[in-house]
Amino acid sequence: MNAEVQAMYDKMRAKLEKVVPDVELRIKAEIAVEINALKVERNAVILGHNYMEPALFYSIPDFVGDSLDLSRKAAQTDKDVIVFCGVRFMAETAKLLNPTKTVLLPSEKAGCSLAASITAQDVRDLKALFPGVPVVTYVNTYADVKAESDICCTSSNAMAVVESLKSDKVIFLPDEYLAANVAREMGKKIIYPKKGKNGLEVDDTGDYQMIGWRGRCEVHEKFTVNDIQTVRAQFPEVAVLSHPECSPDVTAASDFSGSTNAMIKFVKESTAPQYLVLTECAMGDNIAAANPEKDMLRLCMVRCPHMNTITMEDTLNALKLNRYVIDVPEEIRVRAARSVQRMIEIG
Ligand code: 13P
Ligand code: SF4
Repeated sequence: MNAEVQAMYDKMRAKLEKVVPDVELRIKAEIAVEINALKVERNAVILGHNYMEPALFYSIPDFVGDSLDLSRKAAQTDKDVIVFCGVRFMAETAKLLNPTKTVLLPSEKAGCSLAASITAQDVRDLKALFPGVPVVTYVNTYADVKAESDICCTSSNAMAVVESLKSDKVIFLPDEYLAANVAREMGKKIIYPKKGKNGLEVDDTGDYQMIGWRGRCEVHEKFTVNDIQTVRAQFPEVAVLSHPECSPDVTAASDFSGSTNAMIKFVKESTAPQYLVLTECAMGDNIAAANPEKDMLRLCMVRCPHMNTITMEDTLNALKLNRYVIDVPEEIRVRAARSVQRMIEIG
């Protein structure tokens, strides 16, 4: 091991000794050194989502965080290249805010079931059905959907964004569960239009304040109240944390629900004997590494197949081979960037 690799290995080991076996750390430390050299050569910044595997999370990113955090970091960077260790909609958001920079996503397969659940035409149809009602779109969507929206949100600012619109009604897309969790927290009634013979239809004529869509996160929708009860039977004092992409029944049965950053903060600042984190399992490893004294439980039979396609090997190739370049047609980019920028301004 040369001195540089040794230094990287030592740094990674200090955090990951109890999480990643040594044999893997040695290999990953070598790759991390190569990536960091290329990062300097190409004047690049690496952004890493909280769901990245521990060896990647604790070695190469200049910034780690949740979707909102990373959008802010993308907006502020002065580097020429942004490598996004996350999924496509996140890399696209970085491109929206940085049209002149090269944005790279290390895997072509890093999609998202929520982003795939809605099209720009769906949003236009909703706007035709509810004229004048503002559209809030979760960042977990593609640029053409953001372009049809008034403002974006993430799970950490959704309520503040809805509040900021000061509107009797809002269209909130596309996550059925995030919308239902926000509606419950804000005391609003939500309806979900259906696709009928003549396009979108509403069969609820009562009073309502939110209009949702039936998109789901293929990971978070799988957690159930029964999972929580079963774990609580085994660990009666466990603190259960869930992401707001989980169903309202699951978030209600949890001790805390919040964005990935909010869950990380909750574990850091509290003193339960165990924690169960209902979200992508790699984040449980990352929290365990940062809080070695805490006992982390996680249900790893549910994984995000998209986040998991981002590896250190692919990140190295992304920088070496300049792939996969994210592009957004300018006419869409300008409108989509407006929705993201409005969100960032809210704070
Ligand atoms: P956060 O905004 O909480 O990081 O969530 C992003 C995501 O994709 C969760 O599944
Ligand atoms: Fe999308 Fe769910 Fe994966 Fe997050 S965890 S990227 S919402 S599929």
